[in-house]
Amino acid sequence: MITVTGAAGKTGRAVIRALAQRGQPVRALVRRPTQQQAVRAEGAAETVVGDMADPSALGQAVEGATALYHICPNVHPDEMAIGRAAIDAAREAKLAHMVYHSVLHPQAGAMPHHWHKLRVEEMLVAAGIPFTILQPAAYMQNLLPHWRQISADGILANPYPPEAQLSLVDLEDVAEAAAVVLTQPGHTGAIYELCGTGPKSQHEVAGILANVLGLPVRAEMTPVAEWERTAVAAGLNAYAVQTLMQMFVYYAEHGLMGNSNVLRWLLGRQPTTLTGFARRVMSHE
Ligand SMILES: NC(=O)c1ccc[n+]([C@@H]2O[C@H](COP(=O)([O-])OP(=O)(O)OC[C@H]3O[C@@H](n4cnc5c(N)ncnc54)[C@H](OP(=O)(O)O)[C@@H]3O)[C@@H](O)[C@H]2O)c1
Repeated sequence: MITVTGAAGKTGRAVIRALAQRGQPVRALVRRPTQQQAVRAEGAAETVVGDMADPSALGQAVEGATALYHICPNVHPDEMAIGRAAIDAAREAKLAHMVYHSVLHPQAGAMPHHWHKLRVEEMLVAAGIPFTILQPAAYMQNLLPHWRQISADGILANPYPPEAQLSLVDLEDVAEAAAVVLTQPGHTGAIYELCGTGPKSQHEVAGILANVLGLPVRAEMTPVAEWERTAVAAGLNAYAVQTLMQMFVYYAEHGLMGNSNVLRWLLGRQPTTLTGFARRVMSHE
């Protein structure tokens, strides 16, 4: 039995699907009872409802399991405390393996949500539990909420300059890599960065989308103040707004650029390209 935290989120559901496809039993930790049906539909055999920050919920989630795949909610102010609690639960349950879903370049201290993940990595390395750390790049799936606007207006809008270079990865490839490290031997003690593409400017991303959509698409920068007004109006909490604005500044200055060699090796095939991802999205439209 493998326990997955953050199970009802987009990463959790993809990881559950990938494990279930391999016949691996999964126990999903979800926050709300209404999320149980969704994770069972992805293939979770068991569910536990509880708060990830609550040690007793984590203890119940890992009881009798062999491994834990820990996914903290996105841009969570308590990522370090939650990580500590997850590591403690894994140690107390004497799990054979804990895998932590981190992020590409956690050492980028100017982005608090990356830095907090580095601190969790540090705790895990020191915990004495067989571990693996996965460091995914930005998901190609982050484009999906903007797909209709891109298709309708031909504009790829981001609150950082179109010249900013980011590596991207298909979440389905990340989930497959997670299933590989969880179900095949030989990955303990490893820290793997997971990139599907080399660095791409937003102009290049727009060009690829234009080719697949058969429409002109251009990359534009949304003023950060405008992004902030929209995010606040949509109800995004103050910590997430501030943290993501720090991320946009970092992207503008440095981008977030990794290398796809490790993912290619882990999957035993070429990672999904942005063209392949965009074609898949179009085939489901
Ligand atoms: N998006 C990317 O490009 C990217 C790239 C690399 C790494 N990552 C990392 O991937 C991780 C997962 O991101 P995601 O977007 O898949 O997450 P997400 O959609 O925010 O999902 C998190 C899940 O955790 C649940 N949750 C929130 N607070 C909880 C709590 N206190 N106790 C139990 N469950 C709780 C949420 O439930 P509710 O629906 O009830 O809130 C949701 O189901 C993040 O750590 C992120 O930094 C993301």
